[in-house]
Amino acid sequence: MSWIELPEDHPTPSLVVDCVTVDRNLQRMQDYCNDHRLGLRPHTKTHKSIRMAQRQIACGAQGLTVAKVGEAEQMFAASGDLFIAYPAIGPVRLRRLEQLAQRCSELSGGRLAIGVDSKQAAQGIAHAARRAGVSIGIMVDLDVGFHRTGIESSEHAIDLCTWVANQADLEFRGLMCFPGHILPHAPKESWDHYHHAISQVVERLSQLGIQVPVVSGGSTPTAQESHRNPILNEIRPGTYIYNDWNEVCLGVASIDDCAARIVATVVSVPTKNKFILDSGSKTLSSDRNCVDPDSGFGKVVEYPEAKVSRLSEEHGEVVFAENYAGPRPSVGDRVWVIPNHICVCVNLQNKFFLHTDGQLDELLVDARGMLV
Ligand SMILES: Cc1ncc(COP(=O)(O)O)c(C=O)c1O
Repeated sequence: MSWIELPEDHPTPSLVVDCVTVDRNLQRMQDYCNDHRLGLRPHTKTHKSIRMAQRQIACGAQGLTVAKVGEAEQMFAASGDLFIAYPAIGPVRLRRLEQLAQRCSELSGGRLAIGVDSKQAAQGIAHAARRAGVSIGIMVDLDVGFHRTGIESSEHAIDLCTWVANQADLEFRGLMCFPGHILPHAPKESWDHYHHAISQVVERLSQLGIQVPVVSGGSTPTAQESHRNPILNEIRPGTYIYNDWNEVCLGVASIDDCAARIVATVVSVPTKNKFILDSGSKTLSSDRNCVDPDSGFGKVVEYPEAKVSRLSEEHGEVVFAENYAGPRPSVGDRVWVIPNHICVCVNLQNKFFLHTDGQLDELLVDARGMLV
């Protein structure tokens, strides 16, 4: 039986999202956050959909996270409490930020915050806030071991926090970090460092009389372990709403938890052990599996022993092992593919089909391609 029964004329390749699975994923994360008194501010880069963001807010999320200003402009339709977890550098971003800050401030409960790891970034935001005539929240980004953005030295972090706290046009909102390097079964030292890197900054700021209202962390793999870092009071998982093959391989989701899948058609069976799907890198993305990079570009649900071995732009090549003796598909068959990395896959689609009670609604991926 197919994961979701689709009409014969359903277009492929296309992204299909199951509402029941989405709601279960959202509720599970919200329950965890409620049980541990953590604020949930989901990262909307996974779904890029206003409708999905509204579901997250309705389920209890206190606000939303985005990466880019363009995403924030879209997600404003779902919540005026937005956090841009990405440095807003450059005149184009800052001009748009100025307008967005004004729009947020006009909403009751609306507020905007940005993550920064440099004084230059904070200065640009302070100017934008002054021009807008509103105060903008700042979250100082700490590197807790992922080594991407973020300040590694606690002294530098304290300097920046202190500077921000003294600016009339900025509101020092707190600290953010992204523990992307901590995967299930990570050594205790990784968690200890995650905690220590933040707590020493918080303690020193407290001695200086600077309160840290928000300490925001979390990723999907660490989300439901966040109580191991008791200094956190907010988490920002994104992938958890849909899950993907990476999360299954990491052991933080089951196949049943994968709410967003690509339906693809077998367009060729060139040899006994090979079939070709109409979904290539322009549909699935070329992201490799984070647990086993050589395991293929996603999982074909109906043929779990097959490997999506090679992608061209519009062709997904799937192979069976030489000694494979199980069932094989025929030209014209449809299959479900769980992508390795659903966030990138979603950003490749203009629209998706939302499955609710046997019905399929076609929705836009509202923030698709919003890269500025
Ligand atoms: C800054 C930041 N916060 C939160 C997240 C969400 O993490 P995940 O995709 O594991 O849910 C990401 C993901 O890249 C991120 O970059």
